[in-house]
Amino acid sequence: MILVSFTFKNNQTTICKCADKRGNQRREMPEYCVTGGTGFIAAYLVKTLLEQGHVVRTTVRDPENLDKVGYLWEFNGAKERLKILKADLLVEESFDEAIQGVDGVFHTASPVLVPYDHNIQACFLIQNYATLIDPCIKGTLNVLSSCKKAKSVKRVVLTSSCSSIRYRFDVQQVSPLNESHWSDPEYCKRYNLWYAYAKTIGEEEAWRISKDSGIDLVVVNPSFVVGPLLAPQPTSTLLMILTIVKGLRGEYPNTTVGFVHIDDVIAAHVFAMEEKKASGRLICSSSVAHWSQIIEMLRAKYPNYPYESKCSIQEGDNNPHSMATSKIIGLGFPVFKSVPEMFDDCIKSFQEKGLL
Ligand SMILES: NC(=O)c1ccc[n+]([C@@H]2O[C@H](COP(=O)([O-])OP(=O)(O)OC[C@H]3O[C@@H](n4cnc5c(N)ncnc54)[C@H](OP(=O)(O)O)[C@@H]3O)[C@@H](O)[C@H]2O)c1
Repeated sequence: MILVSFTFKNNQTTICKCADKRGNQRREMPEYCVTGGTGFIAAYLVKTLLEQGHVVRTTVRDPENLDKVGYLWEFNGAKERLKILKADLLVEESFDEAIQGVDGVFHTASPVLVPYDHNIQACFLIQNYATLIDPCIKGTLNVLSSCKKAKSVKRVVLTSSCSSIRYRFDVQQVSPLNESHWSDPEYCKRYNLWYAYAKTIGEEEAWRISKDSGIDLVVVNPSFVVGPLLAPQPTSTLLMILTIVKGLRGEYPNTTVGFVHIDDVIAAHVFAMEEKKASGRLICSSSVAHWSQIIEMLRAKYPNYPYESKCSIQEGDNNPHSMATSKIIGLGFPVFKSVPEMFDDCIKSFQEKGLL
């Protein structure tokens, strides 16, 4: 398929027409908005959607910060079909312009990985509300309210997390965990798991609003995402992996978690947006492992790095469990990439970028 034309209407709605090799028009490509374009997942999503021929709008907090957004302009098709707009999750109506006129919205922006602290104090909790919980919960409300106003939006895909599924007092009894399971906010509070708390309430709110307002919402629940670094500097989970491999944290997390390749996460998002049969929540995860097992695997393959050797004393995050992926697989999604493959891709990219 080749791209033949783009039609710009009022600088808002862009129709991307595609043709086969004989020049026969085949279909119109929907225009999408991806929130938080500087993020690990969002940047890959923007890149993939551009490669597929879509017109893409993405939001960032500071479009002028070329250190953070510059590499997005290097993606194939970016100069012709990418718009970068300013928006902040904490500012009401901030997303209106970016969302007005698009066919679908991928809401991925959300603060990630504010590390847990077993000596949590009240002030830390207050800080968490400002930096982690409010942007996740109020930000989701703001984005969905812009979607509702826009009228053009046919589907919203929200990036939630397995963190909104797996934190429960009865996790071992109910495992394998599936889409019907929800994290218990009381469990999250008990163990200071504030990221999980925010993602759980944020997703609950998203479902409440979508039902009230008739928005067609599909939620992707990825586990811990691993893969090659695309941005100049690692963020979120890749930053955590790098610090563990380099032994910079002083300890590794006492966490048993599912891992998933970024390629599968991106494919799941596109699938959630474009597959008519996709609905509700979709768990996106390969195997579950404890961080000690991951470090053991990496040390055997890449023995020259220092690695963390001490396990954190954090409790509540190491429950054995497994994630059921039969729903998404049953809808036709291919088998998930393996844990060794995703970490090999990640370590190789760190080496290529001179970070290891
Ligand atoms: N990585 C994982 O393993 C994983 C697993 C499951 C679910 N998720 C979910 O996937 C999404 C993206 O994660 P990621 O790993 O790609 O994270 P990331 O690389 O840390 O990116 C987070 C993004 O959120 C944006 N953001 C944070 N606070 C904001 C605010 N107040 N207003 C506007 N934007 C804000 C950041 O923008 P700035 O650049 O301006 O800071 C950044 O673009 C999140 O919803 C996360 O919960 C991630």
